[in-house]
Amino acid sequence: MSHNLLKGKCGLITGALDEKSIAWHAARRAHEEGAQVVLTNAPVALRLGQPKALAERLGAPLFPADLTQIADIEKLYDQTLQHIGRPLDFVLHSVGMSPNVRKGKAYPELDYDFYMKTLDVSAISLHKMLQVGRAKGAFARGGSIVALSYIAAQRVFPKYGDMSDAKALLESIARLFGYYLGKELGVRINIVSQSPTATTAGTGIAGFEQMYAYADKMSPLGNASAEACADFIVALFSDLTRSVTMQTLYHDGGFSMMGIAEELL
Ligand SMILES: NC(=O)c1ccc[n+]([C@@H]2O[C@H](COP(=O)([O-])OP(=O)(O)OC[C@H]3O[C@@H](n4cnc5c(N)ncnc54)[C@H](O)[C@@H]3O)[C@@H](O)[C@H]2O)c1
Repeated sequence: MSHNLLKGKCGLITGALDEKSIAWHAARRAHEEGAQVVLTNAPVALRLGQPKALAERLGAPLFPADLTQIADIEKLYDQTLQHIGRPLDFVLHSVGMSPNVRKGKAYPELDYDFYMKTLDVSAISLHKMLQVGRAKGAFARGGSIVALSYIAAQRVFPKYGDMSDAKALLESIARLFGYYLGKELGVRINIVSQSPTATTAGTGIAGFEQMYAYADKMSPLGNASAEACADFIVALFSDLTRSVTMQTLYHDGGFSMMGIAEELL
């Protein structure tokens, strides 16, 4: 149901790969709430995933960009700003990938080239998007930027491997850049720390099903779905959350506050 929460706003959504993606639902909900949306994903995702189908459904442009590449990000903002004709009210960073996790390399046995790639794709890409966007005047005064994290940034989930470090860095970048963009433009930056979710990135973690089932039992509200996450992201894009910034907000059915659930005893 639409509440016109984003009527008259425009924004850029990264990372919608297929119908399971959190960004897919966020783009769909932002559009439903009246926003003009621009989509982007890595060139390989445009070939192998289904972002074109979403772009057609929303009547949204879809621009390829590898978000580790400054030249790609510059071109992405140029194309986006040209299409929209004014600075952006919101941006969603919904990107993550670890070659170490993919190849089953345990945390004490990391491949360091892979490690750098994990940090670049999953965390530094947010800094690059913020730095290039700021330089290009891409963010509207009072805008909202959201990125996605997981509680392995704070607690130990061994199979999450070097993605834990990437998420800790991502959350730090959101905090520190949130200071600068808040002062300069009144732009807020927040992190949504989401429950395990059955997406391509999520199910790539070894033992995902067991982690999902455990978190579901541990959380009084059960695991938060991708659809519910999209609703929360839309709320953060809206003016209703205009004084919230630099926060890691747990969208996890209560998981992060639990010690033990009776079902697990
Ligand atoms: N699924 C979960 O359990 C879960 C839980 C908490 C947080 N998250 C986070 O949510 C975000 C979205 O992931 P998802 O679960 O929707 O999975 P997803 O696989 O649908 O999305 C990940 C996206 O990252 C994109 N991507 C990878 N490398 C890129 C690059 N170099 N340039 C541009 N895009 C690139 C992929 O193409 C894909 O669209 C990620 O940050 C992820 O870590 C996921």
